[in-house]
Amino acid sequence: MSFLERVQQALEDAGQRHVLHFWPELSEQERDSFLQELNQLDLKGLKNHCEGAARAAAARDTGLDLNIEPVPPESLGSATRSCRETLTGWEQEGLLQISDGRVGVLLLAGGQGTRLGVHYPKGMYDVGLPSGKTLYQIQAERIHRVQELADSQQGSKCSIPWYIMTSEFTLAPTEMFFKENDYFGLEQSNIIMFEQRMIPTVTFDGKVLLQDKGKIAMAPDGNGGLYQALVDNKVLEDMKERGVEYLHVYCVDNILVKMADPVFIGFCVSKGADCGAKVVEKAYPTESVGVVCRVGGVSQVVEYSEIQPETAELRGPGGELVYNAGNICNHFFTRSFLQDVAENFNSQLKQHVAIKKVPFVDSCGNQVKPTEPNGIKMEKFVFDVFPFSKNFVVFEVLREDEFSPLKNADGAATDSPTTARNSLLAQHFRWASLAGAALLDEHENMIPPTSSGLAAVGPPAQFEISPLVSYFGEGLDQLLKGRKLKVPFILDGARATQLQAQEHFSDEVSAV
Ligand code: UTP
Repeated sequence: MSFLERVQQALEDAGQRHVLHFWPELSEQERDSFLQELNQLDLKGLKNHCEGAARAAAARDTGLDLNIEPVPPESLGSATRSCRETLTGWEQEGLLQISDGRVGVLLLAGGQGTRLGVHYPKGMYDVGLPSGKTLYQIQAERIHRVQELADSQQGSKCSIPWYIMTSEFTLAPTEMFFKENDYFGLEQSNIIMFEQRMIPTVTFDGKVLLQDKGKIAMAPDGNGGLYQALVDNKVLEDMKERGVEYLHVYCVDNILVKMADPVFIGFCVSKGADCGAKVVEKAYPTESVGVVCRVGGVSQVVEYSEIQPETAELRGPGGELVYNAGNICNHFFTRSFLQDVAENFNSQLKQHVAIKKVPFVDSCGNQVKPTEPNGIKMEKFVFDVFPFSKNFVVFEVLREDEFSPLKNADGAATDSPTTARNSLLAQHFRWASLAGAALLDEHENMIPPTSSGLAAVGPPAQFEISPLVSYFGEGLDQLLKGRKLKVPFILDGARATQLQAQEHFSDEVSAV
């Protein structure tokens, strides 16, 4: 039997004969590349995958309410409710681990960013900051700065390896972008890109969707595809060789993400945790963030749709939501925990149904761009390993300091380029005000500081601080105290040197 005949048979057995519907119309070259794609598919598992996806999409969520409990206080740490001394202790522990080379960061950047609607990786997006920096650049500069902070605490030189999980969609453009930008000043050898697996998208009646006459509509297998990708690409071996014991995993789209946050790392390490999650207080009961909690004594994330509204709306004595630990895809893992997951639990990870608009070729060969969801993508989630943790901890942080994701295109009410940009600028305004600077508008009137950093009306002040100058607001007093600065103003390395060289408390007004 030829390879083509075997593929035909396997597709027939899986109820997917339509995949080769346009075979007679394909050129030699198209046939070759289609066969190559089909060769990489798990054809034996295709029937289960397709039927399972259709079943899961039709199934209703089961209520988890009877067994649900909030995270127990002994597993909980807080950036807002801990005293300065405790926070400093965690921070120093984190910086020590970083300077010992035991900390790596891992970026989840394999998503397709369909809601944002751009045809390049989300990390390359410029949200319109005065500096024009992209998400990738902001993140690279934060790594740079936190390395510097660790170096200056310990008096030695360290590096934080940056693992970047990409997919078929994002690998090549991400590689090119980093190269073109000279790796944003980081050592190329410390940036390790690898690719996650792809799986077919399926219609609601369990048929594989074709993206082209000779191409299946594939999608990355969710950010929980990380655990398979770690194995496929020998990432855990790389971590071991470099001496990396702790990994901070995060999403590409959170403009406020604190990479390798020393406080979070220090907290998790001092608790002896093997797995940890940063959370923010849920804004309102129906907010579409998962909640970190326990179900039947096991730590996990539950979605709003998985519990009854009455449960989501439960409030404690102080009026706070009982289930308020909003998951922000910001996690700590030890290498040995990841090894354990890779060896023992990877195959047990849940599959989630994501209903999406998937462009496809219809049975007449027409390209269709659906306006309504038409396909199922089965995804694994990065947090689905929490139940396997032996010592799981949760760390609460302030949303305005640490979480503002870019999910949607402008025009949406939440999580858009505008909201992301405003969150960052508002944070920098707060830092400047705290450091004692006065910001002036174009008429040289003082912009009144508000506690949120957002102006009462209109957009926040165009005042931006380079992550190369400050990672979490540190070191600004000496640069900004008593200054009057006219916006727009970018505090970058050159400006910082200039300000440092000038007398403080001067009346001078500078602007971009
Ligand atoms: P989202 O679930 O927000 O998905 O990803 P997305 O792909 O960015 O956007 P939409 O849903 O298509 O609009 C959360 C994080 O997980 C990563 C994303 O890159 C983002 O950092 N991710 C998602 C992966 O790394 N792989 C995936 O298969 C899916």
